[in-house]
Amino acid sequence: MKATTTIASSSSGTPVAHNAVPPSATSAARANRVAPHSHIKGLGLTAEGFSAGDAGGFVGQANAREACGVVVDLVKSRKFSGRALLLVGAPGTGKTALALALSHELGSKVPFCPMVGSEVYSSEVKKTEVLAEAFRRAIGLRIKETKEVYEGEVTEITPSEAENPLAGYGKTVSHVVVGLKTARGTKQLRLDPSVYEAILKERIVVGDVVYIEANTGAVKRVGRSDAYASSFDLESETYVPLPKGDVHKRKELVQDVTLGDLDAANARPQGGQDIMSVMGSLVRTGRTEVTDKLRREVNKVVKQYVDQGVAEVVPGVVFIDEVHMLDIECFTYLNALLESPMAPTVIFATNRGNALVRGTTDVVSPHGVPGDLLDRCLIVKTETYARAQIAQVLQVRAQVEGIQLGPGVLDKLAEEGERASLRYALQLLAPAAILARMAGRDAIVIDDVDEMGGMFLDAKTSASALAQEAGM
Ligand SMILES: Nc1ncnc2c1ncn2[C@@H]1O[C@H](COP(=O)(O)OP(=O)(O)O)[C@@H](O)[C@H]1O
Ligand SMILES: [Mg+2]
Repeated sequence: MKATTTIASSSSGTPVAHNAVPPSATSAARANRVAPHSHIKGLGLTAEGFSAGDAGGFVGQANAREACGVVVDLVKSRKFSGRALLLVGAPGTGKTALALALSHELGSKVPFCPMVGSEVYSSEVKKTEVLAEAFRRAIGLRIKETKEVYEGEVTEITPSEAENPLAGYGKTVSHVVVGLKTARGTKQLRLDPSVYEAILKERIVVGDVVYIEANTGAVKRVGRSDAYASSFDLESETYVPLPKGDVHKRKELVQDVTLGDLDAANARPQGGQDIMSVMGSLVRTGRTEVTDKLRREVNKVVKQYVDQGVAEVVPGVVFIDEVHMLDIECFTYLNALLESPMAPTVIFATNRGNALVRGTTDVVSPHGVPGDLLDRCLIVKTETYARAQIAQVLQVRAQVEGIQLGPGVLDKLAEEGERASLRYALQLLAPAAILARMAGRDAIVIDDVDEMGGMFLDAKTSASALAQEAGM
């Protein structure tokens, strides 16, 4: 049985030029979302908290992983408040990766808010304001609502074009027909052009599982239907089963927003359609700036939501890389932030040994962090990698990026990694793969690596080359 339903979007439905991605495009478009840490799925520890060989996308680094596992336990049992984790180690030893893995271990929808110490130096915003905002963005709010939705696996996306009555040439989309399939049935929906715009924006293609809110026309991509799951162990895509029940139903929706999102949405009430639909007109002031007063008002509403059982607070992780770049003012403020009742888990990272604390003239302290903050930190050191481990990381990355390595290439790259740095070797992967493809080969061969090594220098080689020229 097939029924056709029309959803008119609440917005005025301005005509959209139909010139973007053709809807038949496969999920190849999504392949380019592979981020440098996409292979990291967790700390890869056993139930007893020991590092179980190479797991969770992690290679080696057993000590640091186990230490982070202890921190996860502390956070979960709420014994980590007022403290912070400080990761120290040479560049490219997986500090950022560990922080990310730690946040994965805390739960799948836990907000992770990374920043770099030097981000606080802006001429427009106060240093402390930057830190406060990062902390707000690391506190999630999970809001449950029951809504009328259409949910299912997309079986077709067919936009219908019509002559544009206003502009002479060009066509506009008059409506779009979307087919949705669930375990129980299928349904064809005739939708407003603004919904089509949302579909293009979310990069939805046939085979994705989506839901469309009936009264707002907001479209959400849940994941890819597991009928399309590939056999790779490591992938950046999330696969979901075919939804049960009817296409048209009432569904408990869980929205994850952060306090930072709410602050911003309330300061600029025109943007953030999703969030505003959740919180309604939360504070509705004419304010255009996030102030402490606005934050307190948002907190008040959030507290009401929590008391009513509608929302749940999910403390996330704030990750401050290059923490030695902060200055004494920031460190003092951090002490205060750490003690606030709704603080996220705080992780710092640095590759400095003893350093001058910025903003002072004579205070030299380990890692450039003043003593009173250091006292609150658990310090974990990451080890540098041996060649075998570099090879393993490269292997995992090649797999995630879908790059095939010819005979001997892994050894060659690992050698480069040991000589220069792990990051350098990782960076050679992608250009070498392009070179191989241009030559019509599927796999990278040693010559590709050599050629790339000649083209893109590692830091040590390029610096010594310049020094030589200057010496002549
Ligand atoms: N033990 C490891 N296992 C798997 N991948 C790793 C490991 N250590 C580092 N990497 C990867 O190597 C790259 C550099 O590590 P990164 O975490 O950025 O180093 P750092 O933050 O210490 O400078 C990243 O792509 C990271 O995911
Ligand atoms: Mg890093």
